[in-house]
Amino acid sequence: RLDVTEVFHGISFPGHLHTQESLEHALKFQFQDTDILIVSYPKSGTTWIQEIVTLISNRGDSHLSQTVPNWTRAPWLEQYYFTAVLEASSTTPRLITTHLPHHLLGPALQGTKAKVIYVSRNPKDVVVSYYHFHKMANFLPKVDTFAEFLKGFLEGTLHFGSWFDHIKGWTSPTAAIDNLLHITYEEMSLDLPGSIKRMSSFLQCPLVEDEVINCVKHCSFSSMRDNKMINYTLVSEDIMDHSKGSFMRKGEVGDWKHTFTEEQNQYFESIFTSKMQGCTLEFVWE
Ligand code: PPS
Repeated sequence: RLDVTEVFHGISFPGHLHTQESLEHALKFQFQDTDILIVSYPKSGTTWIQEIVTLISNRGDSHLSQTVPNWTRAPWLEQYYFTAVLEASSTTPRLITTHLPHHLLGPALQGTKAKVIYVSRNPKDVVVSYYHFHKMANFLPKVDTFAEFLKGFLEGTLHFGSWFDHIKGWTSPTAAIDNLLHITYEEMSLDLPGSIKRMSSFLQCPLVEDEVINCVKHCSFSSMRDNKMINYTLVSEDIMDHSKGSFMRKGEVGDWKHTFTEEQNQYFESIFTSKMQGCTLEFVWE
């Protein structure tokens, strides 16, 4: 069975890629000051940032992003193959991805100058994207109705835990991460060149205009949808059922409106308002 669950510190993880040892290892990982770490709650724009950072590091040249799968060039810290992939990789600076919440990973980042890019997305679009992904990903629990899935999302019982804990933990002023850039999916949708420039200057890799134009070209939704190194079509049918959907599904802001009922929206708003109390983050919903 593929859809086994690994529970670690009360949070569920897909067991086909995570073990107690791999998760434990992540929390003790020794970051180097030159590392770049992409942090996200699932379906928030992780793959997009993996592509953008690869392109920035290569000054807009797409050779690497079109020849090496994203899970090799930006491996997930908490997955069991991480150490082997990182050791075999010659990518500099090292590019690492994680979905771990701050309360678990924060201590490992204390005292390092590793650069952290935290990407978030409005949670209504996150839950819709995550729901569709569950239908095609055979390593995630079977889903029933969207109503039930939404309940699990708002209660924080889905794989990778609570969206609320994730965003509050990583963006809290007390998170004490020296080098953290918070970027949003909506900001990238609205102004991709500006977002790329913001990231390249944060990464201390300023680009000339032509290089920015090349980055934009290669990380547009259509380019990424057609790039098999990033669109997950290399993953076998038994792991991801490509007849049930596409990883690069819609790539839109506000798609939740096609799924949420008015009642579900009210339920969402009431939980969101109470859980995000005191949080000053602003969200773009459509
Ligand atoms: S995962 O499984 O956590 O790594 O997923 P993640 O990459 O975080 O999120 C997948 C969603 O991001 C969309 N996506 C993009 N949107 C616009 N432009 C570009 N270039 C792009 N790349 C990825 C992808 O389509 C998923 O969103 P939905 O809403 O399902 O389409």
